[in-house]
Amino acid sequence: MGGVSGNDVATALAEKAALAMVVADPASLERKKAAVRDRGTDNLQVIADFDGTLTRYWIDGCRGQTSHGLLKSNPETDAKIQAQYEYYHPLEYSPAIPIDEKTKLMEEWWEKTHSLLIEGGLTFDDIQKSVSSANIGFRDGVVELFEFLEEKDVPVLVFSAGVADVIEEVFRQKLHRSFRNIKVVSNRMAFDNGRLVAFKGKTIHVLNKNEHALDMAAPVHDQLGDSNGSSDNSAFVKKRTNVLLLGDHTGDLGMSDGLNYENRISVGFLNDNVEKSLKTYQEAFDMVLLNDASMYGVLELVSQLC
Ligand code: TMP
Repeated sequence: MGGVSGNDVATALAEKAALAMVVADPASLERKKAAVRDRGTDNLQVIADFDGTLTRYWIDGCRGQTSHGLLKSNPETDAKIQAQYEYYHPLEYSPAIPIDEKTKLMEEWWEKTHSLLIEGGLTFDDIQKSVSSANIGFRDGVVELFEFLEEKDVPVLVFSAGVADVIEEVFRQKLHRSFRNIKVVSNRMAFDNGRLVAFKGKTIHVLNKNEHALDMAAPVHDQLGDSNGSSDNSAFVKKRTNVLLLGDHTGDLGMSDGLNYENRISVGFLNDNVEKSLKTYQEAFDMVLLNDASMYGVLELVSQLC
């Protein structure tokens, strides 16, 4: 009797993922894949956005929450943060707003949310509870992708305009295991007596990731899977000149700015305004994934690179 092997399942899932995949220039993608493969796994790194890229955009018919959006600490400030989300989020994805104008709107949104989180008196305990009751989940195939990359010793930088402290808690609670090859670069909270008092450093929002790309090369204290703390990101980032970039926003392409990469393969998850934005995404990313696709298409891609 012929059973179904793990490989059959992986192939079937990759085929399913291919249905939701658009590659504008297959020849160029093949050239990039060959160039990355030739330089070897030692030269490869993955840079991934978090919200709407590693996480699903829709969960059971509802919008998946973001690392900012899931936080609950104080009903009054939480309601204001939610009202802001409803106002600014459609603007974030609107293809009709010029980039300069949109950048100002995003700065405004991040500043207001961060002030409200401080005003609301958020504690680390609130973060843990908020994550445990949040409507947030990784795309199918993310764990398999991380496992594959860990096995191949390929580093993954999660570069997010969300909140590092929340993202790390989501990793802890939703993945149930740590990965030694994953680091998070994102807005980091400062606590005093257990309460949020400030955000460290310059704010990262969805449209200024390019200005923060080199933050990834700075030593960071927090590291998933290594409670010993500080580590030097520069070895992580600068020596590896081939990049697989995963994002859901054209601004995410700025995550690799300043890296002087040799080859970059970019994968864009187009979650919203699909008809209006497909052309822009196709021009910007080597591969576009639609319909809240799983990560199996990306797993298939990296298995061709490593
Ligand atoms: P990303 O860089 O991981 O995609 O994270 C940024 C997301 O956070 C972006 O899609 C907008 C979202 N966001 C909220 O949901 N609520 C907020 O208050 C703010 C400031 C951002």
